[in-house]
Amino acid sequence: MKDKIVIRKGEPRDALAIAEIYAYTWKSAYTGILPDEVIEEKIKGILHHSERLREKMHLENFIVAEVDGKVVGLLNYRKSRHEKFPDSGDIMDIYILSDFQHVGIGRKLFLAGVDEIIKLGCDDLILHVLKDNKKALGFYHHLGGVIVGEEVELFCSQKVPMTELIVKFDNLKKILEDNMER
Ligand SMILES: CC(C)(COP(=O)(O)OP(=O)(O)OC[C@H]1O[C@@H](n2cnc3c(N)ncnc32)[C@H](O)[C@@H]1OP(=O)(O)O)[C@@H](O)C(=O)NCCC(=O)NCCS
Repeated sequence: MKDKIVIRKGEPRDALAIAEIYAYTWKSAYTGILPDEVIEEKIKGILHHSERLREKMHLENFIVAEVDGKVVGLLNYRKSRHEKFPDSGDIMDIYILSDFQHVGIGRKLFLAGVDEIIKLGCDDLILHVLKDNKKALGFYHHLGGVIVGEEVELFCSQKVPMTELIVKFDNLKKILEDNMER
């Protein structure tokens, strides 16, 4: 499958596919980690989410992964708004449909995100991950991320408190250099 993967910037026409990826991966990745009602609320909001995304897509920084013309993964990034990491980049989301995980798409999306974050003028990046999302933590650790903090985040309208870890990646240019062959 590797040679079929296309990584490109997200466009307004991707809004529904992006909203669907959020919904499906929240269900598959977070069942047993987040309360069911939080996941259900996210899934119910999918159409609203896609309309909102379509309208403000030009303001959002999305990178998508396509296989055979179908959008199967996404990454969303920006300059960090965290008071402790004002000069860092921030990967807000990286989600891949479960049938397309473990074939290298995550790494490709991550490296494309690193490239864009360097263009924003950042030397490092942070991201938040649920403490119980051990699979994602394993992925970030494998790519060189280090845990630098822990915070409680309130999820959805019900404001369910969940513990998240902050993972930091330093020296982004070196990460790209080390992955030139990938
Ligand atoms: C986490 C996620 C983005 C990883 O993407 P992926 O496409 O499955 O990962 P890749 O196939 O690109 O893996 C890249 C490398 O990481 C390694 N890796 C992946 N998951 C790992 C884990 N849990 N532990 C250790 N290594 C891992 C792979 O073996 C691969 O190593 P290699 O390239 O050196 O051979 C993806 O599985 C996903 O979308 N999960 C559900 C949503 C989610 O939890 N997102 C993160 C929210 S914070």
